[in-house]
Amino acid sequence: MSTQTILPAPRVVEVIDTAPDTPWAQRVRLRPEPRQPIGAQQVRIGMLAMTVLPADLLQMQQRYGVQPSVPYVPGHEGVALVLEAGAEVGDLQVGQRVMPLGAGGLWADERVVHRRSLLPLPAEGDALQQAMLAANPATAWVLLKHMGWAPGQWVLHNAANSAVGQCVRQLAGHLGIPLINIVRRSQAIPEGAQGHWLVDDGLDADALRQQVVRITGAQPVMLALDALGGTATQSLAACLSDAGRVIVYGLLSGQASQIGAHDLVFRGVEVRGFWLARWFGDAANRQAGREVYPALLELARQDVLHMEVEQVYDLGDVAQALAHAALPHRRGKVLLRGIHGLAPASSGTT
Ligand SMILES: NC(=O)c1ccc[n+]([C@@H]2O[C@H](COP(=O)([O-])OP(=O)(O)OC[C@H]3O[C@@H](n4cnc5c(N)ncnc54)[C@H](OP(=O)(O)O)[C@@H]3O)[C@@H](O)[C@H]2O)c1
Repeated sequence: MSTQTILPAPRVVEVIDTAPDTPWAQRVRLRPEPRQPIGAQQVRIGMLAMTVLPADLLQMQQRYGVQPSVPYVPGHEGVALVLEAGAEVGDLQVGQRVMPLGAGGLWADERVVHRRSLLPLPAEGDALQQAMLAANPATAWVLLKHMGWAPGQWVLHNAANSAVGQCVRQLAGHLGIPLINIVRRSQAIPEGAQGHWLVDDGLDADALRQQVVRITGAQPVMLALDALGGTATQSLAACLSDAGRVIVYGLLSGQASQIGAHDLVFRGVEVRGFWLARWFGDAANRQAGREVYPALLELARQDVLHMEVEQVYDLGDVAQALAHAALPHRRGKVLLRGIHGLAPASSGTT
């Protein structure tokens, strides 16, 4: 008997309301989705685990770079099993673990996607870690490898306890990049953490600059990675050496980035935005882009990369998962699991 005949009808999450003030529970609904036949180059995948990303929450509030019209199935990242492969798909076996890339609409028990949007994964890896690999580790990789860092230079980053921040720390350690980690509260510094940590509550930019100078001495600080926007952009800019660069890659503060004209005009500081989807879409990055996921898979295999998990929810509890993911001061990521997924909902690390 095939897997499909013994499982209940697959479910999908739909976003039905993206108005700014709608409570999380009213933004989404769950509905059954009957299985359809698949095309010759398509693959039916069973979702094991899906991450709830800030990007998903932004999109549900009409604040993201791509806005589907409602109703739409959300979900940018996850890990799946091959359930059924089309007649012209010769290289994937049923049961093969895969990462859907660029497919979207992943908050579902099952999806039908084109073969070319699937990256085969090793079967032995931790499925939750694999589910979190597409967005944040890739972002950290590109920020550190392709935004102009050069040997001998320091890098600053804020929200250092975020998932991107965890990856930046792990990759910087692996690549030998000297790094200063900035968080907004001292409790966010992991117990026994190595490296340089600063707490910045956003109130005293000059104090932050002085602490950075104390750590780096006279060495250049040319790159700062900003997950926040708002006043944090200016605080980072003020800590940079002349001609340094702030890369704004997140909008967690919800505020427009501030930047002082003095730093721009007299010190030649540059502020640039970064979006992973745009970077991958740029033809100039084609070769570098092909190298990202093989490198990350190898680093995950070596345990260089490891992201914290806060809680895993069943797809049916998506409203609670959203409310949880929107809370501050989490220890790690909130994930969803489908009917093909993992052991029962759990807290803590995997
Ligand atoms: N541009 C891209 O292509 C790209 C790709 C991936 C991610 N991102 C962005 O990167 C950012 C981080 O994503 P993630 O998944 O790593 O986040 P995450 O794991 O959910 O962590 C969120 C972090 O942000 C901190 N934070 C939230 N609001 C803050 C504020 N107002 N001031 C200071 N710190 C604040 C939290 O600190 P506490 O623990 O103290 O609450 C936590 O460390 C998001 O903005 C996301 O959209 C961008």
